[in-house]
Amino acid sequence: MHRRHFLGWGASLTALPWLGAARAGAEIHRELVAQPGEARIADGSALPTRIWGYDGRVPGPTLRVPQGEWLSVRLLNRLPTATSIHWHGVRIDNTMDGVSGLTQDAVAPDASFHYRFQVPDAGTFWYHAHTRSWEQVARGLYGVLIVEEPQPIPVDRDLLLLVDDWRLDEEAQIHAASFESLHDRAHGGRLGQWVTVNGKPFERYAVGARDRLRLRVVNAANARIFSLDFGALQPLLIALDGQPTAPKALDGPLKLAPAQRADLLIDAPDTVGASVPFSVVTREGLLEVAQLVTETPGARPQGGQPFEGLPGNPLPRRLDLAAAQRVGLLMEGGAMGGMRSAILRQERRSIQELVREGAIWALNQTVGMSDDPLLRVPRQRTVVIDIRNDNRWPHGMHLHGHHFRVVERDGVAVDDSPWRDTELIEPGAVVSIAFVADNPGKWLLHCHMLEHAASGMMTWFEVS
Ligand code: C2O
Ligand code: CU
Repeated sequence: MHRRHFLGWGASLTALPWLGAARAGAEIHRELVAQPGEARIADGSALPTRIWGYDGRVPGPTLRVPQGEWLSVRLLNRLPTATSIHWHGVRIDNTMDGVSGLTQDAVAPDASFHYRFQVPDAGTFWYHAHTRSWEQVARGLYGVLIVEEPQPIPVDRDLLLLVDDWRLDEEAQIHAASFESLHDRAHGGRLGQWVTVNGKPFERYAVGARDRLRLRVVNAANARIFSLDFGALQPLLIALDGQPTAPKALDGPLKLAPAQRADLLIDAPDTVGASVPFSVVTREGLLEVAQLVTETPGARPQGGQPFEGLPGNPLPRRLDLAAAQRVGLLMEGGAMGGMRSAILRQERRSIQELVREGAIWALNQTVGMSDDPLLRVPRQRTVVIDIRNDNRWPHGMHLHGHHFRVVERDGVAVDDSPWRDTELIEPGAVVSIAFVADNPGKWLLHCHMLEHAASGMMTWFEVS
């Protein structure tokens, strides 16, 4: 990763505006145009990077919707290729989930699709392309979806830290030749050498002294696991993957797998003129990607009041583990994984054949989607998936349409794990996740290292 400096352009106040959403009744109506655009990804002397973005920018517009409300988005496709939008982490109606080939057909160039759904949970979500995701997300097709609590929480500012990495060529253009790279697929996925925060090489948060901040952190990278350092600040973790957690001070860097989110509560320094670096932890040390600066005297009295936590979301009340439908999920493949063969398109193939097809990850011995789902489950039943990561790589596993909890780790019961939609599973780990299958339809379960998903680490289940 390159080090850069604060360049002066494009860095602006980062309070999240209402983006001109027209309100008819309370339903929020938007149009999003998926189209080519330009962005400053690399340093100031380089050329702008040609990206694909919603409304031609990266990140796309931040959408804000009151909890429980309907969001109505017309996607207009002005890209040279088909696309679709997935609303990551929203416990959504299945027909609106945006998975081309499973829940809808991809939207052809110059065609449109109308997404309309209710948002049950308040919190930090994001939306991204779900058609050739490994290419389309890497080109910039993503944005943030904020679902607002019914009562505003007691903070002075609502800030966004949306982090991504980009692989660019010498002309500062997206390195397209490596989209199908077998090396990336077999290893840790597509890693970029440029980091952006909110689509910029550097972000500057100008706040008041003692301001209480809500920082919404989102990892939009294809494959990079980000560890973020907040300097001398002591952020309080208040939500993960859009779901409130019991407030707890971070005891080190914040680690987020691709697609994961965290909400932090931060009290800005007491004095005007203080600055705090926000950095990505790298093997070579800290890479500063943003800075918090107190520019004005804040309105708050001295001394941070305790924060009680975010209000709860209407999640299932109880996991009935005793009566759960249980299924194993064996994750195999990748470089140094020792996988010998697996089933691809209903036929068992040798690893040599699989490599030739660029299909080198298997879930329960099956590469990618098959006709039969991992499981079929009646609605309201609790499901436990025993995931065994039997290869050399970490994987951020994402469940569509539901939030889950980790109930066992390496054979030991876990009590109080947070609700999540994406869980990072380390090499060799055995992790059991549980959820109530309360959302009917066909749902994906896949690795959110998008190159892994593209080369086999993807399955589905059906709730009837
Ligand atoms: Cu965020 Cu299946 O995706
Ligand atoms: Cu993976």
